[in-house]
Amino acid sequence: IKDKYDDVCQYTAEYVLARINEFNPTAERPFVLGLPTGSSPIGVYKKLVQFHREGMLSFKHVITFNMDEYVHLPRDHPESYHSFMWENLFKHVDIQPQNVNILDGNAKDLEKECTEYEAKIAAVGGIELFLGGIGPDGHIAFNEPGSSLSSRTRIKTLAYETIIANSRFFGGDVNKVPKLALTVGVGTVMDAREVLVIISGAGKALALSKCIEDGVNHMWTVSAIQLHPRGMIVCDEDATLEL
Ligand code: GLP
Repeated sequence: IKDKYDDVCQYTAEYVLARINEFNPTAERPFVLGLPTGSSPIGVYKKLVQFHREGMLSFKHVITFNMDEYVHLPRDHPESYHSFMWENLFKHVDIQPQNVNILDGNAKDLEKECTEYEAKIAAVGGIELFLGGIGPDGHIAFNEPGSSLSSRTRIKTLAYETIIANSRFFGGDVNKVPKLALTVGVGTVMDAREVLVIISGAGKALALSKCIEDGVNHMWTVSAIQLHPRGMIVCDEDATLEL
């Protein structure tokens, strides 16, 4: 538990920096990093960019897999997760474009896209560290309440609560928010060797308490982290209001 959002970001970014540097990735042995979108990780990405500029961190041998992407939102739409990731992180660091993996929400065959994504993760030996955020309904990635805790990458209908929450990125208009997304499953996230979830603000307080003080259950999918041998939540004081 950190005081403020900025401290959450500082801690998380320093953690990622240390993990990548101690792993000492090479072309033969890259570091595989899972990444989220949303407003929570923005501060973390800013600090990672700063570490890169200061010469402390290289993404040259880092392979990334993003958690999710909207369905049928053009890739170059400012709110697509492709745009988000390039804008907030990738274009500022030395990552090799072929090492960036983001689900294609415009693929002709969406189911095939999901199956192939899982295969790509497996082909690089799985994810070393998965960073995540959560929605106010406790979803991780887009694993909405009711998702199986062993779910894999698939198409998901967004919960109305998520559509309302994310409408702030679409001029406040719920009708502009895509209703479907491709998302890694809870099982996909939990297969990572380490999972770090960032939770900030009073709006996430109920979700945090459901996540760690109630039992593991599929209505608050982030609660699956309780079963992870190397699961960590980094939150600010505001997020602890319901604990
Ligand atoms: C979206 C993403 C989630 C993210 C959530 C929270 O729903 N699919 O991965 O955790 O937003 O976003 P924010 O950090 O903006 O509250």
